[in-house]
Amino acid sequence: MSDQASKLRALARAEAPEPTLFKSRVMAITSGKGGVGKTNVVAGLAMSLAISGQRVVVLDADFGLANIDILLGLTPTHTLEHVLRGEKLLEEILLDGPLGIKVIPASSGIQELTRLEAASELRLVQGLQRVAEHQDWLLIDTAAGIHDSVIKLLMAAQEIVLVTTPEPTSLVDAYAMVKVVHLRDPNKPIWLLVNNAQSETEAEETIEQLQAATQRFLGRELQVLGLIPNDPFVLQSVRQQRGVVEIFPRSPSALAFRTIADQLKKKVPLQKGGFTSFWKQLSLEES
Ligand SMILES: Nc1ncnc2c1ncn2[C@@H]1O[C@H](COP(=O)(O)OP(=O)(O)O)[C@@H](O)[C@H]1O
Ligand SMILES: [Mg+2]
Repeated sequence: MSDQASKLRALARAEAPEPTLFKSRVMAITSGKGGVGKTNVVAGLAMSLAISGQRVVVLDADFGLANIDILLGLTPTHTLEHVLRGEKLLEEILLDGPLGIKVIPASSGIQELTRLEAASELRLVQGLQRVAEHQDWLLIDTAAGIHDSVIKLLMAAQEIVLVTTPEPTSLVDAYAMVKVVHLRDPNKPIWLLVNNAQSETEAEETIEQLQAATQRFLGRELQVLGLIPNDPFVLQSVRQQRGVVEIFPRSPSALAFRTIADQLKKKVPLQKGGFTSFWKQLSLEES
């Protein structure tokens, strides 16, 4: 190859768009304790982001418990399990959720995402990369608790939304979660979201208590994302298998979700690498 040709090639390479630069924000929504409203929060935020013009895909990574597809009345014929086995492409299992959100459904038979065989992982990563090109946000609904597999997902995500209720048990478990994440990476952004608060005062007290503990024992302040009030419309919408933001848009919780989605849009920066960097992290964690 002539000198000239190799220079041209180098130039072309330098100018070619970075192939791994997907502009999607990867957020993991988690909690210390189960049943605090994570899946409702994921659905509420996804729909609120969608209303404000964002493209959102939700990855169900809670393989054990009631899934987001049930909450939204979706009926998947195929799930991640088929993708991992190589029987379907990720695009083929994507569900169209309310207000234009996309949902990647899980099933309870799936291996933890952090313990996949190489071939399955490749199918998933490549599928997510293709899907990611058309999305602004990936919201991951994780299982609760400080299990290894959950923590790995959290560490790989760009930012973490930690959901807690004002209950002491939820608060104590939320602190344990902060501690585990903080010890692994003190710079990992953690956003605190208080769900199911009876009043603003109660939510503020919850935030203060958790902040006091993380400051005292970890020397760390959490970023506060906001609060979702206890709202009977949530229960009604769960019963109807519809999102509260969709069917009761003026309910207290729906309005709170809208405010929080605006905060996310303003405050969470675009991450270089997006999904690709997320998966790289996940595999690095593994090795
Ligand atoms: N803000 C809220 N107001 C009233 N009830 C709520 C609220 N958030 C959650 N819930 C109730 O809590 C239950 C558990 O929520 P879910 O999202 O499934 O929790 P998780 O995903 O953390 O296990 C829901 O069925 C819902 O009825
Ligand atoms: Mg859940």
